[in-house]
Amino acid sequence: MAHAIEVNGLAVDIAGRGILHGLTFAVPAGQVTGLLGPSGCGKTTLLRCVVGVQVISAGEVQVLGEPAGSARLRHRVGYVTQAPSIYSDLSIRENVHYFAAVHGTSRRAADRALADVGLSDRATQKVATLSGGQRARASLACALLSAPDVLVLDEPTVGLDPVLRHDLWAHFHNLAAGGTTLFVSSHVMDEAGRCNRLLLMRDGRLIADDTPRALRTETGTDDLEEAFLRLIQRVEPAHPMPTEEVAL
Ligand SMILES: Nc1ncnc2c1ncn2[C@@H]1O[C@H](COP(=O)(O)OP(=O)(O)O)[C@@H](O)[C@H]1O
Ligand SMILES: [Mg+2]
Repeated sequence: MAHAIEVNGLAVDIAGRGILHGLTFAVPAGQVTGLLGPSGCGKTTLLRCVVGVQVISAGEVQVLGEPAGSARLRHRVGYVTQAPSIYSDLSIRENVHYFAAVHGTSRRAADRALADVGLSDRATQKVATLSGGQRARASLACALLSAPDVLVLDEPTVGLDPVLRHDLWAHFHNLAAGGTTLFVSSHVMDEAGRCNRLLLMRDGRLIADDTPRALRTETGTDDLEEAFLRLIQRVEPAHPMPTEEVAL
């Protein structure tokens, strides 16, 4: 299958307010696709639609050829939310071993997942005592254990130091090379260049859906943040935004 995720005319309204306004796009299988856009533009809402936990107002979301959220996708789609979803009264190792048991994965794979996120040396520490970034990484390790075909990650690198951020992106590409489809949100434009493909979002609308290289060529700049600005000015010529408002 060429596309792991297909979204058609997706609209979401919350409390009578339009949040997503008729999005149509497809995410290629076996690649890292980035969902980039400023805080509040609707990234989390869109990812929730992809994993099937968001009530939608219109449109269709298909994942691996099935409607998003269908039972058959339960073990094929992994989701790491912005709020880490692991047990705070257990140690990191107890958490990964627990999730390994749930997914029928070996303890060795669990320990390897800990190493992948750079937490081996803290394995015995209770999750409650971790920093936000460490907790997010522990959460990610647990999600990696289900070895999903599609991995949906909501701002997985927030608060990480640059070395670890670099390593995690390398790990995402390793997973993609093995056939996993990654759909990763970020509000940090310097992560955009690390993706095979980019969706740029603003106010619940997509303003670009292309490869980083094509976006650079089309906008005539090597700087993806500048490219984003130029695209916004194209879409909203009557309302050029002051730089600080569009800065991600
Ligand atoms: N449960 C909710 N109730 C009301 N508004 C919401 C709710 N969830 C999201 N929103 C609104 O939807 C918009 C998009 O939010 P979100 O998808 O979290 O954006 P992002 O992840 O890009 O920061 C925001 O304006 C947010 O306030
Ligand atoms: Mg969000």
